[in-house]
Amino acid sequence: MSKTLIIGASGQIGKMATELLLKNEQNVVALVRDKSKLSDLDSPFLSIVEQDLEGDFSNAVNGCDQVIFAAGSGGSTGTDKTVLIDLWAATKAATYSKEHGVKHFIMVSSIGADDPDAIESDLKPYLVAKHMADRHLINSGLNYTIVRPGSLTNENASKLISTERPKDRDKAIISRENVAHVLFTIATEQGSNRCIFEVFDGDKPIKAAIK
Ligand SMILES: NC(=O)c1ccc[n+]([C@@H]2O[C@H](COP(=O)([O-])OP(=O)(O)OC[C@H]3O[C@@H](n4cnc5c(N)ncnc54)[C@H](OP(=O)(O)O)[C@@H]3O)[C@@H](O)[C@H]2O)c1
Repeated sequence: MSKTLIIGASGQIGKMATELLLKNEQNVVALVRDKSKLSDLDSPFLSIVEQDLEGDFSNAVNGCDQVIFAAGSGGSTGTDKTVLIDLWAATKAATYSKEHGVKHFIMVSSIGADDPDAIESDLKPYLVAKHMADRHLINSGLNYTIVRPGSLTNENASKLISTERPKDRDKAIISRENVAHVLFTIATEQGSNRCIFEVFDGDKPIKAAIK
């Protein structure tokens, strides 16, 4: 059975994706910097690696077939962490994955990462970091899926999404739980191959929307 490394498994999306995979009896390696954040998870399919993403975390990739990068520096840290996590840790994750023969790398990117110059906002350094991490993955030779969610909300999962960007920017949103279900679907469905798409709350079942 395949083994999936989830980087950022203590995060909101990362933990929900971890739980979905474990419920589906998938082997998960959860990479976190504080394992107490997963103390409520009890599964024979779970192993935890405690490691800070600012260091060398190549060992965590060993023996994994798939990697989901769901980590992020978050809105309350500075540009230094944007560079170290959103850019550099994501870049290292793809490099380690290539070195360890990972079959599929799933990146949680962001709306706007395709063209950081398209908006003038405080988010631009973050979008540049996401853009460059995505570009590194695209050029890595790995099989990849890059998921670019709209602005995240904490609504419950509707499990209905769209990959078409709404014209109204205020509607370019998606719940974290829906993103976790998208990641779960990608990770458990074979055949995803070198694709990039944005995701929003919408009206299509996930499998139909991303096929
Ligand atoms: N906010 C938005 O509207 C938006 C939109 C599109 C895409 N995104 C992307 O969505 C993704 C996840 O979002 P989320 O809300 O689930 O994020 P989150 O809850 O803030 O989770 C971030 C995760 O990254 C981990 N992390 C950060 N620095 C680390 C380090 N040095 N070493 C180890 N782990 C580290 C955190 O660990 P700890 O638990 O230890 O802190 C946590 O597990 C991010 O990639 C973000 O860029 C966000």
